[in-house]
Amino acid sequence: MPLVTFSSPDYKDKTVYAVAGSHTETILKLAKEYKVPLHHDCQDGECGNCLVRVTSVDRKGRMSGFLTDKERSVLVELGKLTKDDIDRIAVDDMPSEWRLACQMIVRDEDILVEY
Ligand code: FES
Repeated sequence: MPLVTFSSPDYKDKTVYAVAGSHTETILKLAKEYKVPLHHDCQDGECGNCLVRVTSVDRKGRMSGFLTDKERSVLVELGKLTKDDIDRIAVDDMPSEWRLACQMIVRDEDILVEY
């Protein structure tokens, strides 16, 4: 079961450790389940309010799925992804560290989610 650590500089005393129970849960769904105050609005990958930074806790290669076209567009609009980043992600076969919590599905890896 993947361990997801939610952390925010605004809530330093409220680091939340969550365990994803299935491979269909998004970070946002897990955050809601554990009452993590992660900003969100549309829940459909369009507003960008649920922007999070995701890193691997155990420093293994990241797995967590790849960006959808919609997610990629929003991350570019938010200035979190450049053309070079998009090219590098494709070449290195690695996901972006910036993600939309409503779009990223938790895989079988331990991750830190900064919101
Ligand atoms: Fe709008 Fe995730 S809640 S993009």
